[in-house]
Amino acid sequence: MKILEVKDLTVKLDNKTILENINFEVKKGEILAIVGPNGGGKTTLLKTILGFIKPYRGKVEILGLPPKKAVKTGKIGYLPQKNNTPKKFPVSVLDVVMFGLVNSKLSKNEKLQKALEYLDYVGMKDFKDRPFSDLSGGQQQRVSIARVLVAEPEIIFLDEPSTGIDVVAQESFYEFLKKLRDQKNITVVMVTHDVGAVAKYVDKVAGLNRYLHFYGSPKDFFKKDILSKLYGADIELIVHSEECVTCEHFRFKTEDKTC
Ligand SMILES: Nc1ncnc2c1ncn2[C@@H]1O[C@H](COP(=O)(O)OP(=O)(O)O)[C@@H](O)[C@H]1O
Ligand SMILES: [Mg+2]
Repeated sequence: MKILEVKDLTVKLDNKTILENINFEVKKGEILAIVGPNGGGKTTLLKTILGFIKPYRGKVEILGLPPKKAVKTGKIGYLPQKNNTPKKFPVSVLDVVMFGLVNSKLSKNEKLQKALEYLDYVGMKDFKDRPFSDLSGGQQQRVSIARVLVAEPEIIFLDEPSTGIDVVAQESFYEFLKKLRDQKNITVVMVTHDVGAVAKYVDKVAGLNRYLHFYGSPKDFFKKDILSKLYGADIELIVHSEECVTCEHFRFKTEDKTC
Protein backbone atom coordinates (compact mmCIF):
# COMPACT_ATOMS: atom_id res chain seq x y z
CA MET A 1 0.00 0.00 0.00
CA LYS A 2 1.30 3.40 -1.02
CA ILE A 3 1.82 5.77 1.90
CA LEU A 4 3.85 8.54 0.23
CA GLU A 5 3.91 9.78 -3.33
CA VAL A 6 6.17 12.50 -4.73
CA LYS A 7 5.23 13.41 -8.27
CA ASP A 8 7.05 15.67 -10.77
CA LEU A 9 8.30 17.73 -7.84
CA THR A 10 10.35 20.86 -8.46
CA VAL A 11 11.31 23.14 -5.57
CA LYS A 12 12.86 26.59 -5.82
CA LEU A 13 14.24 28.63 -2.93
CA ASP A 14 15.27 32.25 -3.54
CA ASN A 15 14.74 31.63 -7.26
CA LYS A 16 17.30 28.84 -7.20
CA THR A 17 16.19 25.37 -8.24
CA ILE A 18 16.97 23.04 -5.35
CA LEU A 19 15.02 19.98 -6.46
CA GLU A 20 14.03 19.17 -10.01
CA ASN A 21 11.45 16.76 -11.31
CA ILE A 22 11.53 14.29 -8.41
CA ASN A 23 9.35 11.19 -8.65
CA PHE A 24 9.08 8.29 -6.20
CA GLU A 25 6.70 6.32 -4.02
CA VAL A 26 7.07 4.72 -0.60
CA LYS A 27 5.00 1.73 0.48
CA LYS A 28 3.70 1.17 3.99
CA GLY A 29 6.27 -0.55 6.19
CA GLU A 30 9.28 0.30 4.06
CA ILE A 31 12.50 1.86 5.29
CA LEU A 32 13.82 4.42 2.82
CA ALA A 33 17.23 6.08 3.10
CA ILE A 34 17.78 9.38 1.32
CA VAL A 35 21.48 9.88 0.62
CA GLY A 36 23.53 12.39 -1.33
CA PRO A 37 26.13 15.13 -0.95
CA ASN A 38 25.74 18.11 1.38
CA GLY A 39 23.52 20.74 -0.14
CA GLY A 40 21.92 18.14 -2.42
CA GLY A 41 18.44 19.03 -1.19
CA LYS A 42 17.70 16.20 1.25
CA THR A 43 16.41 18.39 4.07
CA THR A 44 14.51 20.51 1.55
CA LEU A 45 12.80 17.37 0.26
CA LEU A 46 11.68 16.35 3.76
CA LYS A 47 10.43 19.86 4.51
CA THR A 48 8.48 19.90 1.26
CA ILE A 49 6.96 16.49 1.97
CA LEU A 50 5.89 17.80 5.39
CA GLY A 51 4.34 20.93 3.91
CA PHE A 52 6.82 23.49 5.31
CA ILE A 53 7.95 24.40 1.79
CA LYS A 54 5.54 24.86 -1.12
CA PRO A 55 6.49 23.09 -4.36
CA TYR A 56 7.20 25.21 -7.42
CA ARG A 57 5.77 22.43 -9.52
CA GLY A 58 4.38 18.94 -8.89
CA LYS A 59 2.79 17.48 -5.80
CA VAL A 60 3.22 15.45 -2.66
CA GLU A 61 0.62 13.10 -1.26
CA ILE A 62 1.09 11.50 2.10
CA LEU A 63 -1.43 9.12 3.69
CA GLY A 64 -3.52 9.96 0.63
CA LEU A 65 -3.65 13.65 1.61
CA PRO A 66 -1.82 16.87 0.72
CA PRO A 67 1.01 17.55 3.24
CA LYS A 68 -0.65 20.13 5.49
CA LYS A 69 -3.79 18.06 5.92
CA ALA A 70 -1.75 14.91 6.49
CA VAL A 71 0.33 16.56 9.23
CA LYS A 72 -2.88 17.60 11.01
CA THR A 73 -3.93 13.96 11.38
CA GLY A 74 -1.09 13.52 13.90
CA LYS A 75 -0.01 10.35 12.09
CA ILE A 76 3.30 11.82 10.93
CA GLY A 77 6.44 12.03 13.04
CA TYR A 78 9.42 14.25 12.28
CA LEU A 79 12.86 14.45 13.81
CA PRO A 80 14.56 17.52 12.30
CA GLN A 81 18.24 17.62 11.43
CA LYS A 82 19.29 19.80 14.35
CA ASN A 83 18.33 19.01 17.86
CA ASN A 84 17.08 22.26 19.32
CA THR A 85 16.79 21.10 22.90
CA PRO A 86 18.41 23.84 24.99
CA LYS A 87 21.65 22.50 26.44
CA LYS A 88 21.55 24.25 29.82
CA PHE A 89 17.82 24.09 30.43
CA PRO A 90 17.33 21.30 32.99
CA VAL A 91 14.81 19.22 31.12
CA SER A 92 14.49 15.56 32.11
CA VAL A 93 14.42 12.61 29.76
CA LEU A 94 10.77 12.01 30.66
CA ASP A 95 9.91 15.68 29.91
CA VAL A 96 11.41 15.37 26.44
CA VAL A 97 9.15 12.41 25.64
CA MET A 98 6.13 14.18 27.17
CA PHE A 99 6.72 17.04 24.67
CA GLY A 100 5.72 14.56 22.00
CA LEU A 101 2.21 14.45 23.48
CA VAL A 102 1.46 18.18 23.71
CA ASN A 103 -1.31 17.87 21.11
CA SER A 104 -2.71 14.68 22.57
CA LYS A 105 -6.13 14.54 24.22
CA LEU A 106 -5.06 11.90 26.72
CA SER A 107 -5.26 12.61 30.44
CA LYS A 108 -2.10 13.56 32.29
CA ASN A 109 -1.76 10.10 33.76
CA GLU A 110 -2.34 8.39 30.40
CA LYS A 111 0.33 10.62 28.87
CA LEU A 112 2.73 9.66 31.60
CA GLN A 113 2.07 5.94 31.08
CA LYS A 114 2.53 6.30 27.32
CA ALA A 115 5.77 8.23 27.74
CA LEU A 116 7.13 5.55 30.08
CA GLU A 117 6.03 2.81 27.69
CA TYR A 118 7.97 4.40 24.83
CA LEU A 119 11.00 5.13 26.97
CA ASP A 120 10.99 1.46 27.82
CA TYR A 121 10.63 0.58 24.14
CA VAL A 122 13.79 2.52 23.25
CA GLY A 123 15.58 1.06 26.28
CA MET A 124 15.80 4.35 28.18
CA LYS A 125 13.26 3.97 30.98
CA ASP A 126 15.93 3.76 33.68
CA PHE A 127 17.13 7.21 32.60
CA LYS A 128 13.73 8.90 32.91
CA ASP A 129 14.70 11.36 35.65
CA ARG A 130 18.13 12.20 34.29
CA PRO A 131 18.79 15.55 32.61
CA PHE A 132 18.55 15.04 28.87
CA SER A 133 21.77 17.02 28.33
CA ASP A 134 23.75 14.49 30.41
CA LEU A 135 23.10 11.63 27.99
CA SER A 136 25.43 10.45 25.25
CA GLY A 137 24.62 11.24 21.62
CA GLY A 138 23.16 7.79 21.01
CA GLN A 139 21.05 7.90 24.16
CA GLN A 140 19.75 11.36 23.29
CA GLN A 141 18.81 10.10 19.87
CA ARG A 142 16.85 7.19 21.38
CA VAL A 143 14.96 9.57 23.64
CA SER A 144 14.25 11.91 20.72
CA ILE A 145 12.93 8.96 18.76
CA ALA A 146 10.69 8.05 21.73
CA ARG A 147 9.37 11.64 21.61
CA VAL A 148 8.49 11.17 17.94
CA LEU A 149 7.02 7.68 18.47
CA VAL A 150 4.94 8.39 21.55
CA ALA A 151 2.28 10.06 19.40
CA GLU A 152 2.06 6.71 17.52
CA PRO A 153 2.62 7.98 13.97
CA GLU A 154 2.23 5.80 10.87
CA ILE A 155 5.24 7.28 9.14
CA ILE A 156 8.32 8.97 10.56
CA PHE A 157 10.86 11.27 8.92
CA LEU A 158 14.33 11.36 10.45
CA ASP A 159 16.87 13.89 9.20
CA GLU A 160 20.38 12.54 9.84
CA PRO A 161 19.40 10.70 13.03
CA SER A 162 22.76 8.96 13.47
CA THR A 163 25.01 12.00 13.13
CA GLY A 164 27.26 12.33 16.16
CA ILE A 165 26.74 8.73 17.24
CA ASP A 166 29.68 6.35 17.27
CA VAL A 167 29.72 3.41 14.91
CA VAL A 168 28.64 0.79 17.46
CA ALA A 169 25.73 2.93 18.63
CA GLN A 170 24.81 3.57 14.99
CA GLU A 171 24.53 -0.16 14.33
CA SER A 172 22.16 -0.62 17.26
CA PHE A 173 20.24 2.45 16.18
CA TYR A 174 19.61 0.93 12.77
CA GLU A 175 18.72 -2.41 14.36
CA PHE A 176 16.23 -0.50 16.43
CA LEU A 177 14.65 1.10 13.36
CA LYS A 178 14.27 -2.35 11.85
CA LYS A 179 12.60 -3.64 15.00
CA LEU A 180 10.27 -0.66 14.91
CA ARG A 181 9.23 -1.46 11.39
CA ASP A 182 8.83 -5.18 12.10
CA GLN A 183 6.85 -4.75 15.33
CA LYS A 184 4.79 -1.66 14.62
CA ASN A 185 4.76 -1.62 10.82
CA ILE A 186 5.95 1.96 10.86
CA THR A 187 7.24 3.46 7.64
CA VAL A 188 10.63 5.13 8.05
CA VAL A 189 12.06 7.80 5.76
CA MET A 190 15.51 8.90 6.87
CA VAL A 191 18.27 11.09 5.59
CA THR A 192 21.68 9.64 6.31
CA HIS A 193 25.34 10.01 5.44
CA ASP A 194 25.97 6.50 6.56
CA VAL A 195 26.04 4.84 3.18
CA GLY A 196 27.72 1.74 4.63
CA ALA A 197 24.80 0.98 6.92
CA VAL A 198 22.28 1.55 4.20
CA ALA A 199 22.97 -1.77 2.51
CA LYS A 200 22.20 -3.75 5.63
CA TYR A 201 19.20 -2.01 7.05
CA VAL A 202 17.03 -0.35 4.45
CA ASP A 203 14.60 -1.50 1.75
CA LYS A 204 15.04 1.40 -0.66
CA VAL A 205 17.62 4.06 -1.35
CA ALA A 206 17.04 7.48 -2.89
CA GLY A 207 20.19 9.12 -4.25
CA LEU A 208 19.49 12.82 -4.33
CA ASN A 209 21.52 15.72 -5.68
CA ARG A 210 19.07 18.21 -7.14
CA TYR A 211 17.79 15.36 -9.29
CA LEU A 212 16.81 11.94 -8.06
CA HIS A 213 19.79 10.15 -9.58
CA PHE A 214 18.75 6.81 -8.18
CA TYR A 215 15.75 5.17 -6.59
CA GLY A 216 15.74 1.45 -5.90
CA SER A 217 17.22 -1.38 -3.89
CA PRO A 218 20.49 -0.92 -1.94
CA LYS A 219 22.07 -3.67 -4.04
CA ASP A 220 21.63 -1.70 -7.26
CA PHE A 221 22.67 1.52 -5.57
CA PHE A 222 26.17 0.23 -4.82
CA LYS A 223 27.26 0.32 -8.39
CA LYS A 224 30.16 2.57 -9.09
CA ASP A 225 28.58 4.56 -11.89
CA ILE A 226 25.60 5.51 -9.76
CA LEU A 227 27.76 6.55 -6.82
CA SER A 228 30.14 8.65 -8.89
CA LYS A 229 27.22 10.30 -10.69
CA LEU A 230 25.68 11.18 -7.36
CA TYR A 231 28.75 12.30 -5.46
CA GLY A 232 30.96 13.51 -8.29
CA ALA A 233 34.34 12.32 -9.47
CA ASP A 234 36.21 13.64 -6.43
CA ILE A 235 34.80 10.96 -4.17
CA GLU A 236 36.49 7.67 -4.69
CA LEU A 237 34.75 4.67 -3.27
CA ILE A 238 36.46 1.58 -2.10
CA VAL A 239 34.63 -1.05 -4.06
CA HIS A 240 36.74 -4.08 -4.80
CA SER A 241 34.25 -6.71 -5.76
CA GLU A 242 30.57 -7.42 -5.97
CA GLU A 243 30.55 -9.24 -2.61
CA CYS A 244 32.39 -6.39 -1.06
CA VAL A 245 29.85 -3.87 -2.16
CA THR A 246 27.25 -4.97 0.33
CA CYS A 247 29.57 -6.01 3.11
CA GLU A 248 29.94 -4.06 6.29
CA HIS A 249 33.43 -2.87 5.44
CA PHE A 250 32.11 -0.72 2.68
CA ARG A 251 33.15 2.82 3.50
CA PHE A 252 34.11 6.07 1.92
CA LYS A 253 37.81 6.45 1.41
CA THR A 254 38.09 8.90 4.31
CA GLU A 255 37.89 5.90 6.61
CA ASP A 256 40.65 4.22 4.68
CA LYS A 257 39.36 0.74 5.20
CA THR A 258 39.56 -1.91 2.55
CA CYS A 259 37.67 -5.14 2.23
N1 LIG B 1 15.68 28.80 3.09
C1 LIG B 1 16.54 28.68 2.08
N2 LIG B 1 16.66 29.67 1.16
C2 LIG B 1 17.51 29.54 0.13
N3 LIG B 1 18.28 28.48 -0.11
C3 LIG B 1 18.20 27.45 0.76
C4 LIG B 1 17.33 27.49 1.90
N4 LIG B 1 17.45 26.33 2.57
C5 LIG B 1 18.36 25.61 1.91
N5 LIG B 1 18.81 26.27 0.81
C6 LIG B 1 19.79 25.76 -0.16
O1 LIG B 1 19.25 24.61 -0.74
C7 LIG B 1 20.27 23.67 -1.02
C8 LIG B 1 19.90 22.34 -0.41
O2 LIG B 1 19.96 22.44 1.00
P1 LIG B 1 19.52 21.24 1.94
O3 LIG B 1 18.15 20.80 1.54
O4 LIG B 1 19.71 21.68 3.33
O5 LIG B 1 20.58 20.11 1.53
P2 LIG B 1 21.04 18.80 2.32
O6 LIG B 1 20.06 18.54 3.42
O7 LIG B 1 21.04 17.74 1.27
O8 LIG B 1 22.41 19.07 2.82
C9 LIG B 1 21.56 24.27 -0.51
O9 LIG B 1 22.25 24.84 -1.58
C10 LIG B 1 21.08 25.33 0.47
O10 LIG B 1 22.00 26.38 0.53
MG1 LIG C 1 20.25 18.38 5.45
